Amino acid sequence: MDRKDFLLTTCAACGVTSTLAFLDSCSKVGIINFTLDLTLPANAALAHTNGAVINGNVIVIKTSTGYEALSLICTHQGCIVSYTGHGFVCPCHGGTFNITGGVTGGPPPSALTKYTVVKNGTVLTITG
Ligand code: FES
Repeated sequence: MDRKDFLLTTCAACGVTSTLAFLDSCSKVGIINFTLDLTLPANAALAHTNGAVINGNVIVIKTSTGYEALSLICTHQGCIVSYTGHGFVCPCHGGTFNITGGVTGGPPPSALTKYTVVKNGTVLTITG
């Protein structure tokens, strides 16, 4: 029994199981909230279609219609996927994803997690 299971089992008697389960789910999903200033040289790649900027485990891509923000964490077993310029490949078991995060091959059970991108002037705000 690992620490999480011990706490869930032990705390069931005192009525805090749902809180622990909630906290557990939050730790897996994470909270994303950052901005990218498109006028900064560090974000210049976002001026071109298929250009991308990585912030932690999140990639922001300029598409032909706007911007996509995706988790780089593979939905199979959590390895970090690599951006190829037209999609993603997972180094662990060969999973592949298209540029919008949809599964195109291999064992991943679902698409890469998407985040919300809002453009206000020259600033992108990424949340999720
Ligand atoms: S962890 Fe990515 S394909 Fe298995």
